[in-house]
Amino acid sequence: MKSHFHHFLCLALSVCSSATSPATLSAVTVGPSTGGKSVCLSGYVELPISVNGTKLNYVPPSTIEAETQSMVEMYQVTNSLALTAPNGTQIIQGDFQIYYKLCLPSSSAKAENVTTVQLLTHGATLDHTYWDIGPNHSYIDAATAAGYATLSYDQLGVGNSDHPDPIQVVQATSQVAVTHALAQLLRQSKIGNYSFDAVVGVGHSAGSTLTQAITTQYPADFDAVILTGTSTVDTYVTLSMTAFNLINANSDPSGSFSSLPAGYLTQQTSVGIQFSFYRWPNFDTTAFNRQVANKQTNTVGVLLTLGGVVATAPDFTGPVDVVVGENDFVFCGGDCTYPENQASLVQPAFYPNAASGSQYYLAAGSGHVIAAHDSAGASFQQMIGFLQSNGIY
Ligand SMILES: *[C@@H]1O[C@H](CO)[C@@H](O)[C@H](O)[C@H]1NC(C)=O
Ligand SMILES: *[C@@H]1O[C@H](CO)[C@@H](O)[C@H](O)[C@H]1NC(C)=O
Ligand SMILES: *[C@@H]1O[C@H](CO)[C@@H](O)[C@H](O)[C@H]1NC(C)=O
Ligand SMILES: *[C@@H]1O[C@H](CO)[C@@H](O)[C@H](O)[C@H]1NC(C)=O
Ligand SMILES: *[C@@H]1O[C@H](CO)[C@@H](O)[C@H](O)[C@H]1NC(C)=O
Repeated sequence: MKSHFHHFLCLALSVCSSATSPATLSAVTVGPSTGGKSVCLSGYVELPISVNGTKLNYVPPSTIEAETQSMVEMYQVTNSLALTAPNGTQIIQGDFQIYYKLCLPSSSAKAENVTTVQLLTHGATLDHTYWDIGPNHSYIDAATAAGYATLSYDQLGVGNSDHPDPIQVVQATSQVAVTHALAQLLRQSKIGNYSFDAVVGVGHSAGSTLTQAITTQYPADFDAVILTGTSTVDTYVTLSMTAFNLINANSDPSGSFSSLPAGYLTQQTSVGIQFSFYRWPNFDTTAFNRQVANKQTNTVGVLLTLGGVVATAPDFTGPVDVVVGENDFVFCGGDCTYPENQASLVQPAFYPNAASGSQYYLAAGSGHVIAAHDSAGASFQQMIGFLQSNGIY
C-alpha cells in the first residue's frame, strides 16, 4: 500500500494523467476537516446511473395547504399515497454530479499506511457534514486518527449534489445506485487513484437503509457494515415525520432552497428537528444550531419508495455493527431498551449469515443523531473498535 499519499497529492495538484480513471472528477480542493484533525480532498464525481425506478402518479402541489394535505395522505390509514401513487416501473437514467469528501490522517506517514476506506452515507434532511460536525463531534476525525480513510458525500438531490426531479428521479433505487457506484469506484481505486484493500459501509438512519440495501443487492461491495440510527421498528417514523411539519423547501424563509421545485421538502421548525433527532440536555447546542442552520431536504420520491429497498441480506457474510442512541425517538419511540435492546435485534432480523464478530451498542443518553450528542466520542470508539476487533484496518 505504498504511495497512497503520493497519489493524493498527485490528484490534488492536478498534475497526473487521469487516463486510467473512468470517473470524471472536478473542482478538487484540499483542506482540513471541520473537526480539524484530518486532511480532505473534496469535489464532484460524475456518476452515470441507470436503474429501475417507480413511475409515481403524483404531481407535487405548490401551495402550503395542498402540500400539507399530501403529507396527510402519505400517512392516512387507508389508500395512503404509498399505495395509490405507484403506477408501474420506469428507468431512471442520467449522469449526475455527486459531491464527495475524501479524508485521510493529516500525518502523511499515517496516510501512507491507510488500507481501508469507510463510505459514509448520511440520513434524511442531513448531508455529508453529519460525519464531521466539529471538534469532538467528527466521526471522520475519529476514523482517520485510527488510520482509516473516509468518503462522505451528499446524496442525489441533497446539498452540493445534483437536484433532479424530486418525484420521478430522486427515489430510493437511484440513491442505492449512487451509493453502489461510489463503493465500486473505491473498490476499483478510481477516486483519487487510491487503492484500498477494504471498503466498509457506514450509514446513519436513511443512510443505514441505503447501506443495508447495498448488502442485499451487492453483498460484495462492503467488507463490513456499521448501521447507526436504525432498528427493526418503524412504528414511530410517522410521528417523527409529523413533528417536522414538512413544507416545500422552496417556501423556506431561509431562501436556501428557493430554486428547487415543489416535491423537495424540509422541516418547518427547529422544534421539530429537536423532537425527532435530539435528547435534551445530552447534546451539543452548537452542533444542534449548526444542523438547524444547515438543514437539508428530502424528496417525496424517496419517502414513497424507501420501504421498497428494505430486505434481508442472506448473502452478506461480513460483520455487522448496529449503533443506536439509547433515547432514539425515530426508531425506538424514545427508549431503545424497551421492551428489549433494539440494537440487538437488527442483525438477527436482516443478516442471518453475518460474521460472528458482529456487535451492537446503545449510545448512552443519545437521541437519533448520535454524532451530535455528548456520548459521540464513546460511540465513535465503539465503531472503530468493532472494525479493529474484526481485523479490518
Ligand atoms: C494511477 O495509478 C496508475 C498506476 O498505479 C498510474 O499509471 C496513473 O498515472 C495514476 N493516475 C493518477 C491520476 O494518478
Ligand atoms: C429493470 O427490471 C427489469 C425486469 O424487472 C429487468 O429486466 C431490467 O434489467 C431492469 N433494468 C435495470 C436498468 O436494472
Ligand atoms: C398509469 O400508467 C398508464 C400507462 O403508463 C396510464 O395509461 C394510466 O393513466 C396511469 N394511471 C394513472 C392513475 O395515472
Ligand atoms: C506504517 O506501517 C509500517 C509497517 O507496518 C510501520 O512500521 C510504521 O510504523 C507505520 N507508520 C505509521 C505512521 O503508522
Ligand atoms: C473536546 O473534548 C475534550 C475532552 O472531553 C475537552 O477537553 C475539549 O474542551 C472538547 N473540545 C471542544 C471544542 O468541545
